[in-house]
Amino acid sequence: MTQRQDVEKADLNANDIASAGPEKRKVFVKTYGCQMNVYDSERMSDVLAPEGFSATENVEEADLVILNTCHIREKAAEKVYSDLGRIRKVKEARALEGKDMMVGVAGCVAQAEGEEISRRAPIVDLVFGPQSYHRLPKLLNDARSGQKVVETEFDIDSKFKHLSEQAARPVMKRPPAAFLTVQEGCDKFCTFCVVPYTRGAEVSRSVEQIVDEARQMAAGGVREVTLLGQNVNGWHGQASDGQTWGMGRLLRELAQIDGLDRLRYTTSHPRDMDDDLIEAHRDLKELMPYLHLPVQSGSDKILASMNRKHTRDEYFRLIDRIRTMNPDIAMSGDFIVGFPGETDQDFEDTMDLIRKVEYGSAFSFKYSQRPGTPGALMEDQVPEDVKTARLAELQELIASQQTAFNASRQGMICDVLFERKGRNPGQLVGKSPWLQPVPVDAPEELIGTIQPVEIVGIGSNSLFGTLIAGHHDSGGMITGGVKEIAI
Ligand code: 5AD
Ligand code: SF4
Repeated sequence: MTQRQDVEKADLNANDIASAGPEKRKVFVKTYGCQMNVYDSERMSDVLAPEGFSATENVEEADLVILNTCHIREKAAEKVYSDLGRIRKVKEARALEGKDMMVGVAGCVAQAEGEEISRRAPIVDLVFGPQSYHRLPKLLNDARSGQKVVETEFDIDSKFKHLSEQAARPVMKRPPAAFLTVQEGCDKFCTFCVVPYTRGAEVSRSVEQIVDEARQMAAGGVREVTLLGQNVNGWHGQASDGQTWGMGRLLRELAQIDGLDRLRYTTSHPRDMDDDLIEAHRDLKELMPYLHLPVQSGSDKILASMNRKHTRDEYFRLIDRIRTMNPDIAMSGDFIVGFPGETDQDFEDTMDLIRKVEYGSAFSFKYSQRPGTPGALMEDQVPEDVKTARLAELQELIASQQTAFNASRQGMICDVLFERKGRNPGQLVGKSPWLQPVPVDAPEELIGTIQPVEIVGIGSNSLFGTLIAGHHDSGGMITGGVKEIAI
């Protein structure tokens, strides 16, 4: 199905956290929203480990609870308050046993609402925005001394500097696939979107910072890196040769790192897909054949009113150029239905665009009025029932395209990077080049390796595979092919 990329999970990998520090304590982190929050939550765990914190997935035993929040749609933001209601009960129950519990709200709701959060939910001890988590130990101390802590400064340089210092520390074991933030913030100001307000202006990390962190990750066992940014393909970083590099050049550099066999990047804006980046999809076997390139709407009128600064025809031409470079690419996107002023005809234009592009997957949402954005003040807001009906129709179309894409993989042999144990005993789950999960019966020692797998069945989201006999780590060479191809 075409559900959201929202990740809601109790985060923090216990293996990532060294049992160090004076007092042993437990932290429960819940991550909402995009992958950038997942990355931030992982870095919070790195910061907290030397303070004696280890992860728990059981909120009842947590000395510290952190909600790393998302503000993109109203539902995501409101979910935080309902979760805080539940946490209050746990905190009260712990207090009866004489145990303390600190509660922190991090991420974009924290940035957008600041003090308002502890007013609405008095159990919250500290509120800190996405650019402050590296100051967590200090903030925790302040909160422990009874202050209500609210830290929502935009200080991206200090966060990036901290990330690099962290990356320079001794090698830590990492999961086979990891995120790496290369850029934060956005200057595009799409009229529906809060990101320019919650994450601030677009800032890129330098080439050196990114390459060092990627090397560190590879040394810790990472085989696949997904570069992250709200506007990742708008990244432009200073290199030590004094030049400013774009994303294409960065990917070429990262592809040289030993052990990094797979590269991905997300999320991109159509206007920032330059020739070098498009050509990288032809040139780099490490660059996986999957591209998330949101268009939001297929109507020129709505695109203009969303301030997307491109037309549907320009988007079609872009997709053509990308597919000329790599015909095997799985296209993905984001769609918003019910943006103010969207008529039946505008919606039909979106459906028509989807039919023409043929997506491998996509995420789709009902328009949500966000305070402070121009869209929230526009006239002609679309009634909820119309949004609901359009979303269902659009998701049905995307689901059929996703099924068709997955069915076209049947019988292929492709590389799978095994990431973790599967639900059934004896099963591992890995990722295909096109980003679908692939459950395969395989021995545990293959976690962290890339193996050729034959696709023998398809589900709505997954591909089912079997290991090719005499397995070996194929080092990320095979991205797809029919059975006959020799490997
Ligand atoms: N309402 C609905 N969807 C939104 N998105 C961003 N802002 C809104 C909003 N106000 C969607 C866009 C974006 C994705 C991350 O979330 O499709 O690409
Ligand atoms: Fe939001 Fe538009 Fe920036 Fe994406 S490009 S983060 S949708 S303002």
